Amino acid sequence: MQSKELRSILDFIDEKITYPDIFSIEGASTNPEVTVGGKKVLIFCSNNYLSTAADKRIKEEMIKAVNIYGMGSGGSRLISGNISIQEQLEKKIAKFKGTEDAITFSTGYMANTGVIPALLTPPVTSALSYLKNKTFLRDKSIVFSDELNHASIVDGIRLSKAEKYIYQHKDMADLEKGLKSSKKYKTRLIITDGVFSMDGDIAPLDEIMALAKKYNASVMVDDAHSTGILGEKGQGTAEHFKIPHHPEITMGTFTKVFGGVGGFVAGSKELIKYLRVTARTYIFSAPIPPAIAAGIIEAIEIVATEPQRREKLWKNVHYFKEHLHQNGFNTLGSETQIIPIFIGDEKKAVKVARRLLELGFFTPCVRWPAVSHGQSRLRLTLMSEHTKEQIDSLVKALIQVRTEIHF
Ligand SMILES: Cc1ncc(COP(=O)(O)O)c(C=O)c1O
Repeated sequence: MQSKELRSILDFIDEKITYPDIFSIEGASTNPEVTVGGKKVLIFCSNNYLSTAADKRIKEEMIKAVNIYGMGSGGSRLISGNISIQEQLEKKIAKFKGTEDAITFSTGYMANTGVIPALLTPPVTSALSYLKNKTFLRDKSIVFSDELNHASIVDGIRLSKAEKYIYQHKDMADLEKGLKSSKKYKTRLIITDGVFSMDGDIAPLDEIMALAKKYNASVMVDDAHSTGILGEKGQGTAEHFKIPHHPEITMGTFTKVFGGVGGFVAGSKELIKYLRVTARTYIFSAPIPPAIAAGIIEAIEIVATEPQRREKLWKNVHYFKEHLHQNGFNTLGSETQIIPIFIGDEKKAVKVARRLLELGFFTPCVRWPAVSHGQSRLRLTLMSEHTKEQIDSLVKALIQVRTEIHF
């Protein structure tokens, strides 16, 4: 593409929806108070939900690891990068999620884009059939995906080249309709976000699992925003619904409650062994750097042993929502720490976010392509370290901006 062409596309984007503001945070982004443009503001958009990212114990473990390992791992896991700390991390996250084993990827995005094709693409299309029936059935596969699933799932499905059935958001009748009409496919995989990343509502995993059983399908849940949050022990969506058997495939990321970077898939020993030789994003890319792995191991320990963080976060969630609803804000179907405030129009959403920043609140809006056109919103998120006073001040600012910009 020539620069003239690029410029005209950029002009078009700017005219239609305004080119996104990409703000630069000076210093740490991990406390409720951050510095943007030289000004101290309160952040209400971080995924560091349990305020772990800057914990002193994590920093100490990371520093120790830097002194032992240096920076990188020197190669991909199957060549030279399989440093023992990677295996320790996999054991730790498998134990936390309550599964037999786990595999890690350098990002959550790479977990989804590696694992979905590995499970669905011919000639290993029948991987799931193999796991279920112990025979390779070289048929075509079909994937059922909630229309609001994360982009990394969408891209994983695109890469898989499998047939797809996109069911309406959390609509079990629609999912069943798809399952009923897919008898010719031997491999059927249902994929859902556990907590939807832009809406903050929870997938009906119990019902999905029941339908999967009825139609002999497999289930993959993306627990990016549920791990550490849902369930008594914070194990995620399956624990939230008290489902006795885990979905066959649970994906997650270390970027949210664990405050680091990296992705994982948790499941049976056989599944994980299979993924190590079929998921291309695992085979052909270097792993999470060792010092980050060390930090995440400590973060998992903190999340597992300090349930008070989760309790504090939930108190904040209930408090904030109560005040938003009392004041007539539409938080869509949010049930969790991700709380959207619907605006609709793209340009208006930008104005609202800019005005909130002037008032001392860092809450960038989300717009296409993160959500559909005309579905722009503030995607507010809470952290366990937010205080009631900070939450009150945001509610007050939202009321003020609504009277100024009418949304
Ligand atoms: C639901 C969901 N899945 C996967 C990912 C990708 O995770 P990562 O940031 O680790 O690449 C995200 C990230 O925002 C997400 O929200």
